[in-house]
Amino acid sequence: MSGFKKDFLWGSAIAANQVEGAWNVDGKGPSTADMFTSGSQKNPRIFTKSIENNKYYPSHDGVDFYHHYKEDIKMASELGLKAFRFSINWTRIFPTGIEDSPNELGLKFYDSVLDELNRFNIEPIVTISHFEMPYGLVDKLNGWSSRKTIDYFMNYCQIIFKRYQHKVKYWLTFNEINNSTTVSGPLISLGLTKDYRGTVFDYSCDIQTRLQALHHQLLASAKAVKLAHDKYPQFKMGNMVAFIPYYPYTSAPEDILAANNQMNILDWYVSDVQVRGLYPYFAKKYWSDNDVKIDILPGDEDILKQGTVDFYSLSYYMSMCAGLQKKVAKSAGNFIDGMKNPYLKSSEWGWQLDPDGLRYSLNQIYARYQIPIMVVENGLGAVDKLEANEKIHDDYRIDYLRSHIKAMRDSIDDGVDLIGYTNWSFIDLVSASTGEMSKRYGLIYIDKQDDGTGSFKRLRKDSYYWYKKIIDNNGSDLE
Ligand code: BG6
Repeated sequence: MSGFKKDFLWGSAIAANQVEGAWNVDGKGPSTADMFTSGSQKNPRIFTKSIENNKYYPSHDGVDFYHHYKEDIKMASELGLKAFRFSINWTRIFPTGIEDSPNELGLKFYDSVLDELNRFNIEPIVTISHFEMPYGLVDKLNGWSSRKTIDYFMNYCQIIFKRYQHKVKYWLTFNEINNSTTVSGPLISLGLTKDYRGTVFDYSCDIQTRLQALHHQLLASAKAVKLAHDKYPQFKMGNMVAFIPYYPYTSAPEDILAANNQMNILDWYVSDVQVRGLYPYFAKKYWSDNDVKIDILPGDEDILKQGTVDFYSLSYYMSMCAGLQKKVAKSAGNFIDGMKNPYLKSSEWGWQLDPDGLRYSLNQIYARYQIPIMVVENGLGAVDKLEANEKIHDDYRIDYLRSHIKAMRDSIDDGVDLIGYTNWSFIDLVSASTGEMSKRYGLIYIDKQDDGTGSFKRLRKDSYYWYKKIIDNNGSDLE
């Protein structure tokens, strides 16, 4: 058994809009993420066109990472983290997206975060855009539906690449870019919300509009990668896919084809573009079956070809089943649902728990692309109980992490080139899908509640101490 390499990047992850707060501080403009109210599993978040007085918007104060980053990064160093994944909030740098020059205070904030990480020898992994974009670009251009958005995004990339070129080596372009292949994904990923006010359940986007906007985002991703490769050869550029493996519900050949088709569109459609530099063979049929005509201009194909990534990154939370049966119960997921697998248990939020699915996914990805892989999100959203002595005994989270880390170790033994793991999440944060705080993911508990109350006090959970041990022994002993 070979196990994790010596320089394996043991890490943890967060995203700007889910932790920072300070949504209108030091020149920051409103982002799409700032327009989502709080919600729950049953009462969906509402996306509003302007800030409404009687509503609570959890990103506005997040868990106040903006003012606690020093304390948080110190705890990251005490945990022994080798890597830290976070995102830059585009609206701290370009408040409406269209300014000619960047907001210096925003740039300074990330300088300070990076300096702090550097002080403790922690490798940053930076997501350029994690589920947000300037609301100004929604107003002006309806988000990624416009090709012009690519230019504004490139202005942003030019500035941050130049500014942080000596501080950041690993970059991810767009978080979970494949969510936009689903009807609801564009709400959070593409800014296709110009005239929308309504719940996350009611939103849907037609396939023509979202696949065209996704084409623009794929071009932007490729251009960013090319810019990095041309000017900053020390950078390592990655994509980021919400990877969900689909199993056939039965061994009926129709079910096998259904699962294959589902994975083609959800998992491989975007990553073939980002890794191989062209749309996969099945895209044309998918477009024509759905009457979609992608406006691919001369030059677009070259851009995609020239902007292929150096490594593949994914989030992994669940697997699903697909098949032709109509009466099978549904299983919940992030932006997509699927058939419930009778062999699997689910989290309190209905996400199916399947560590073997991670091993299966890593093998599938590596077989297809043979480039290094990082798992940059994986974790359990659960209700945590704060004991009177301020302890949090989250054995369920430890079990979850243990089984998934074991699956990664097995996949390495299978021969997969896995170079890093950043669990979701480092600190408790606002849930992206429900806007709750009570769906907690962190290794560190934060006193912040669903209604916005709380002192922001940080407390280490049992999982923090367990993960520290795992990092110390490089994953050789997972007990
Ligand atoms: C991923 C996102 O989809 O899943 C994160 O990249 C998100 O931003 C995570 O927080 C967990 O999902 P949720 O909806 O439970 O927060």
